[in-house]
Amino acid sequence: MTEQPLLEYINVSKKYGDLQALSQLNLKLCPGDFLGLVGPNGAGKTTAIHLATGLAKLRSGKIKIKGLDVVKNYTAARRLVGVAPQEPNFDRFFSVLDCLIYQGGYFGMKRRESRQRALELLDLFELTDKINSKPPELSGGQKRRLLLAKAVIHNPEIVILDEPTAGLDVELRHRLWDYLKRLKERGKTILLTTHYIEEVEALANRVAILNRGKLILEDKIEDVMNRYGRYGCLFKVDRLPRELAEKLEQDYPFLQIENHSIRACGHSFDSQIHEILTRLLENGIKISGMQVDETPLEEIFLEHLKPSMPTGEANS
Ligand SMILES: Nc1ncnc2c1ncn2[C@@H]1O[C@H](COP(=O)(O)OP(=O)(O)OP(=O)(O)O)[C@@H](O)[C@H]1O
Ligand SMILES: [Mg+2]
Repeated sequence: MTEQPLLEYINVSKKYGDLQALSQLNLKLCPGDFLGLVGPNGAGKTTAIHLATGLAKLRSGKIKIKGLDVVKNYTAARRLVGVAPQEPNFDRFFSVLDCLIYQGGYFGMKRRESRQRALELLDLFELTDKINSKPPELSGGQKRRLLLAKAVIHNPEIVILDEPTAGLDVELRHRLWDYLKRLKERGKTILLTTHYIEEVEALANRVAILNRGKLILEDKIEDVMNRYGRYGCLFKVDRLPRELAEKLEQDYPFLQIENHSIRACGHSFDSQIHEILTRLLENGIKISGMQVDETPLEEIFLEHLKPSMPTGEANS
């Protein structure tokens, strides 16, 4: 039996005047998925989020949340989602605590319950000392944390985060990653947009690349790495007799051998590494060093954007 997706875009397109912001987007998030949605500025990431959450009008295609049509069943569908938007949207006259309590109320939480949960989240996001401050008095990083608390106050099944770590310092970014990992462990389904590809590598199990409104890649990160990544391994050796070098190159075509180095490139040689090392050791070759390098997801991302760049931009 196929699993019912929690969030599903079916042939979704969106135009703003003459601008095609999204074209025929088909995308699925199953329960427990953590999808990293990436793409250059203006690719359509925020538009995709706005369409799912009622902030942009959906006229072409369908979006379903746990089977509910987001247009026809807006209230029930919206309740299942928590969103931390790219642009902070606080009521500037409420205190930090009241912002959270009202957000809970918006989703039908009783005031007491909402207040209790707000206090817990303020503690979790280290904002307790700002409880009576107004949002404009918060720093950029504190605003981001408040946005996240606001997104999860009603304990939604799906959490959508639009560039939640933009502008955060490195330490805070890593602390937020820890929190997102915990959300994932608790079974939440997460859609995250970001310009930090290493964030997707560290957190997500799936990646989707949007460019100019079109989905150009969507898959499990593991499969993307296996398909497009290169894995390299370099052994430094003291000496290598020419005869042995030739024999090794013949038996293992993925090896590039020079006087004092043996480089293995590709993605499917793991099972043969043991064999190669054994042959070196049996021939009395001393291995004096080793380096491993793997194509970062970022490189694969850039490779995928290249063909659709106007000439000149791609080469600059
Ligand atoms: N309300 C709007 N009215 C008109 N055009 C819009 C509107 N919202 C977005 N756009 C346009 O749609 C395109 C996609 O914008 P969107 O905000 O979805 O991009 P994004 O991928 O989120 O980019 P970024 O990484 O910069 O946040 C852009 O060209 C943008 O100018
Ligand atoms: Mg955006």
